[in-house]
Amino acid sequence: MAHRQFEGKEQASSYWKYRFPPPDHIIQHLLDFQKKQKAGSDLAVDVGCGPGRGTVLLAKHFASVVGLDVSPAQIEVALQHSKEPNITYRQCVAEQLPFSGSSLDLVTSMSAFHWFNRPRFLQEVHRVLKPGGCLFLVCFNNNMELNFPNCCSDTLSQISKEFSEEIKSYRCLHVGICPRNSYKEAYDSILYPEKEWHDCVLVKRTMTLSNFIQLMKTLGDYQALVRDDPQKATRLSQDVSQRLMSEMGVTSIQTEVEAVMKYFYVLARKPQEV
Ligand SMILES: C[S@@+](CC[C@H](N)C(=O)[O-])C[C@H]1O[C@@H](n2cnc3c(N)ncnc32)[C@H](O)[C@@H]1O
Repeated sequence: MAHRQFEGKEQASSYWKYRFPPPDHIIQHLLDFQKKQKAGSDLAVDVGCGPGRGTVLLAKHFASVVGLDVSPAQIEVALQHSKEPNITYRQCVAEQLPFSGSSLDLVTSMSAFHWFNRPRFLQEVHRVLKPGGCLFLVCFNNNMELNFPNCCSDTLSQISKEFSEEIKSYRCLHVGICPRNSYKEAYDSILYPEKEWHDCVLVKRTMTLSNFIQLMKTLGDYQALVRDDPQKATRLSQDVSQRLMSEMGVTSIQTEVEAVMKYFYVLARKPQEV
């Protein structure tokens, strides 16, 4: 069964506003890996595409791109922002992909795989990939470090860590204790000889403190807290904002900080002969 906690329109819009797609160098690594064996570039599919911020990055490199998501609200927001003529979006579940066998050059899932029935999704990926076709699974760690000039990064990062630790106890059981482990387990379970595991790839991003808090609020763990105890969720985010501003010695939540995100990802190629 698909996890339906991304249904709200407001949440889909927050994803669009505050989440980031994977950085250019990780996408470039994916493209280099994909092209290494003169693989085709006809059709790429992004599963759990949300509002499509990662999906659009594939448009220049493939003749057609399809974004799939179980949530109609996410698809609606993706369609609102869709400009690329070669991208289409469809509502469907990751565990039953609407493609015939051996028809796709690339399947991606960005910050979504841990929500799926993972063994069933991987079986589907194996069915739909062409021989030589690739799989890319990417995500980032909820625990982000923070830097601000003339301020102790360890203290800021500790406050950010306490935030992610606090919301962790509300995590949906299906996701497991650590999403990163689900990706590593998937990597270990994939029997293709050509595969790569990349861990702890640091990506620095400058954003306002306000946007950092909004980004944290998009996390599944925080959304689970909102459902369980909305007042506690509001108190927590306000408290963290105040503590960070006080530590930074600023009065405006629009002050810019540097957040260090830790990405991990899997690349794998279905062999020509299986
Ligand atoms: C955390 S969001 C990531 C969205 C987007 N890929 C991004 O990077 O911003 C996870 C997405 O996976 C979708 N999702 C969760 N379970 C799914 C399933 N079983 N099949 C298809 N989509 C699913 C959710 O609706 C949600 O849009």
